[in-house]
Amino acid sequence: MAEEKKLFKVTIDNISVEVEPGTTILNAARQIGGDIVPPAMCYYSKLQGSGGKCRTCLVKVSKGSEADPRPMPKLVASCRTTVMDGMEVANITSPEVIEARKGVVEILLLNHPLDCPICDQAGECHLQDLSYEHGVSATRYEFKRRTFDKVDLGDKIQLHMTRCILCYRCVFTADQLTEKREHGVLGRGEHAEIGTYIKESLDNDFIGNVIDVCPVGALTDKTFRFKNRVWFLKPVDAHRNCENPKCCGKTTLWMRGEEVFRVTARKDVYGEVEAFICDTCRFDKKEAKDWVVEGPRNISRSSVISQNHYVKTVKPQETIEKVLDGRKPKLLMDIHTVSEVNRPGIDLSQIEGPAHSDDFNKKGVQ
Ligand code: SF4
Ligand code: SF4
Ligand code: FES
Repeated sequence: MAEEKKLFKVTIDNISVEVEPGTTILNAARQIGGDIVPPAMCYYSKLQGSGGKCRTCLVKVSKGSEADPRPMPKLVASCRTTVMDGMEVANITSPEVIEARKGVVEILLLNHPLDCPICDQAGECHLQDLSYEHGVSATRYEFKRRTFDKVDLGDKIQLHMTRCILCYRCVFTADQLTEKREHGVLGRGEHAEIGTYIKESLDNDFIGNVIDVCPVGALTDKTFRFKNRVWFLKPVDAHRNCENPKCCGKTTLWMRGEEVFRVTARKDVYGEVEAFICDTCRFDKKEAKDWVVEGPRNISRSSVISQNHYVKTVKPQETIEKVLDGRKPKLLMDIHTVSEVNRPGIDLSQIEGPAHSDDFNKKGVQ
């Protein structure tokens, strides 16, 4: 008989869950779900080795384990710390964590431009969400900010290094998804930047995925840039028979009317793609007829995008006629019969005044 695997019990913000040994605190929290899940700007469950860079996921371990109940002396990165049996963790219930997160957001924003009004990522940007939640309205930074020119990484991707938070996700994506990686983080500390060393273009059939994994608007889709705000578009799930055997062909189309403005991979509640897609699906299939549309995509993240998509709404009952005792509401709007205003060539100064309720009574309109 197969030996039953012992699960570890971990309690996060007073909610307990049993998980497999080796699970990180962040993933244990994701199994619980909801507000207690720490934010993650660099960890990406589909990319090996990701995490441990941004510190947005810091939590407090108030009890190490059943065997050794001592608390951990410092806040820990939940994406890189594995659970122990009996561990107790505080995230949103710890004022210390909230204060630290505020500091992390302040650091992430040190060199960040105030680009949200023109940034393609606005509306689906995790840094923007974090800033609303934890950011302060002023900066204490007195030094000159880092600035960079925009760089074209080939004809489809543009890099805005000023917005980059050096999460390394795009580097892992290129490393793990494409045949050869042509970019990386160059320099260290204040001089660290994403680059291709000799300004090469990124040219690989899966390289477009760096746009999806980038948590900010540092890597933008040149076929979509400045064309629309994401919250004006309607996301729908669609698929096609993609010839690329590595591509799932399942995407989200961002449409306005019949027009497809951009194609992205489908993203889950944590903003991570469900399955990566190839560049042909992303950049070259921009017509509705290229796709089989499955239906509206429900964006579950609390975001401006998830607002105003009237799915399953019930049309309210028409009540105007009822309150007008069966008279047609059009009668109230139609001033042509009682006003001279619309007659061609009329001298407006000769008209006594606009139509009002007296006119209706005068003309005996019922
Ligand atoms: S990356 Fe995010 S926070 Fe930065 S400018 Fe763009 S939307 Fe705003
Ligand atoms: S470009 Fe985007 S994905 Fe790449 S390191 Fe910067 S923030 Fe991360
Ligand atoms: S998500 Fe844990 S350090 Fe970035």
